[in-house]
Amino acid sequence: MCGIVGYIGNNNAKDVLLEGLKRLEYRGYDSAGIAVRCDSSLVEIVKSEGKIDNLVKKISSLNINGTKGIGHSRWSTHGKPSEINAHPHHSDDYNVVGVHNGIIENYQELKEKLLRHDYSFYSETDTEVLIKLIDYYYKKYNIGPVDAINKAIVRSRGSFALALMFKDYSDQIWFAKKGSPLIIAKGEGESFLASDVPALLSYTNKVYYVDDFECGSISKNEIKFYDLNGDDITDTKKLVSIDWEADSVNKGIYPYYMIKEIHEQPEAIKETINAYLDKNNNIDFLHIGISEKYLKSLDEIYIYACGSAYHVGLVGAQIIENITGINARVELASEFKYRNYHMNPNALAIIISQSGETKDTYEALLKCKESNIKTLAICNVKGSTITRDADFTALTYAGPEIAVATTKAYSCQLVVLYLFSIALAFSKGQIDISRYRSLIEDISTIPQKIESILNNESTIQSLAQRLVNKKDVFFIGRGIDYALSMEASLKLKEISYIHSDSYAAGELKHGTLSLIDESVMVIAILTQPDLFEKMVSNIVEVKSRGGKVISLTTDNFNVQVKSDYNITIPTINPLFTPSLSIIPLQLLAYYTSIGKGIDPDKPKNLAKSVTVE
Ligand code: AGP
Repeated sequence: MCGIVGYIGNNNAKDVLLEGLKRLEYRGYDSAGIAVRCDSSLVEIVKSEGKIDNLVKKISSLNINGTKGIGHSRWSTHGKPSEINAHPHHSDDYNVVGVHNGIIENYQELKEKLLRHDYSFYSETDTEVLIKLIDYYYKKYNIGPVDAINKAIVRSRGSFALALMFKDYSDQIWFAKKGSPLIIAKGEGESFLASDVPALLSYTNKVYYVDDFECGSISKNEIKFYDLNGDDITDTKKLVSIDWEADSVNKGIYPYYMIKEIHEQPEAIKETINAYLDKNNNIDFLHIGISEKYLKSLDEIYIYACGSAYHVGLVGAQIIENITGINARVELASEFKYRNYHMNPNALAIIISQSGETKDTYEALLKCKESNIKTLAICNVKGSTITRDADFTALTYAGPEIAVATTKAYSCQLVVLYLFSIALAFSKGQIDISRYRSLIEDISTIPQKIESILNNESTIQSLAQRLVNKKDVFFIGRGIDYALSMEASLKLKEISYIHSDSYAAGELKHGTLSLIDESVMVIAILTQPDLFEKMVSNIVEVKSRGGKVISLTTDNFNVQVKSDYNITIPTINPLFTPSLSIIPLQLLAYYTSIGKGIDPDKPKNLAKSVTVE
């Protein structure tokens, strides 16, 4: 959702804030703003609607000099995207100026309370209410920032990461958190805060994670943390090292992050596989606390995730059921909260999330904890909320993923689930040592096979021209291919704005066939030998109703005669074809988006990290 940054030091704050906001633009990009303290009594606030570049242009014509400030890139919740609703917001006398990521659910009730105390409001936002509530407590009780913030926090329902400047404390920036991510970092004579690591990577890789119901302050030379009682808890906080390179948040030779991240997949997958293989090429989850004995004791797997991470779960569950002899149940994290099924105490819940901050997914984790179900997080961001609360964490080594549409994180999550499934199957005696070895061997070939697909990128680029003018695209598949097709369909719709849906191919005849005509493109995925003939029949069904078909299959099958266009991927163990099938389909989505003149990194209405329900 929104991104926030804060800086206090010796450099020009506006430059640090704008760079940080550019790095966080993937979190929201409908409007942005900064507030810079120019001297102890003057705060300059500049805001603009649209992408950060609009703000950069506006600021370039202004003379804003100051070494302390806060900034915000917005993904609107309360109030439409507009300059007036953009952050920073302020109390009428500029006593408190702040930026906020999150939602204050009871803002209406708080607003009425403040209206009764003669406050007035210029925006439609919940943030303005929160800032004014802090100002109200600060003045009413004359209690200083920590207690004023804490009083406001106690009265507010919802989630927030807040950065605040108080007129009377011009050498500090204040912060508070509940539910939305916030990190703090210290440099030489300067301190930073941000929603996420990429904003700060070019300055430092050592950060503090702020926990819920903590607040504090940063100044040039000091960072302080307080709990809800107002007690100083700075000594309890740990500095965490992030092992991402500063360069990894740049586009390098690529025009967009998404295509860069697509190309990073072979390397990212290799690193992720290596993290879970020991020197003898045996799968090792013991280093994250998961022993063979524990695996053997499991008799069910639950998987909870949202969006693409959920699609990883759909593939993973089929593999688990194919080779481990136990059942796997996959649920959208956003739906799990409404379900009341009996949870098996001998189950492990796998929570999959790139960001580790997705609210729905985090709540699924909390629900598992309440039910005493152990949790394994598969996550790309070390130190993120989900990793901190899960019993076990299997990190993916995709590096920072900036494009809103996930590619490399999805692929890395897949291989972790493959390896986990094999380890589970082996510990349960469901596969023998030779199958164990050959499955690991198959997985090790994935990076190089992806390279070979990427070498044929131009073929997919041309094929994308066939989609640019389509209104409806359907993806069909069976079994693992159906699970994969859901991800392919999401990729296409989120960055090309073409209506696209994924159907289990066997379901076409139960309704969807009525939508098929000459204007529709159907992308049929058929990589599973035992389902091949049935899929060919489905292609024929579509063709005979006038639909156009792109088929995607492994290079040992030939369906060219049956379809209009064909994509082939290298042959691999059928369990692992999703890792290869997704690559041309990511490219297809990317080039369709480019062909339509859309910025694939920042699709409209979406944000990378979804920290609201
Ligand atoms: C994928 O391209 C999407 N941007 C989205 O579906 C994403 O996978 C989902 O929001 C979950 O995010 P997470 O992995 O960070 O939890």
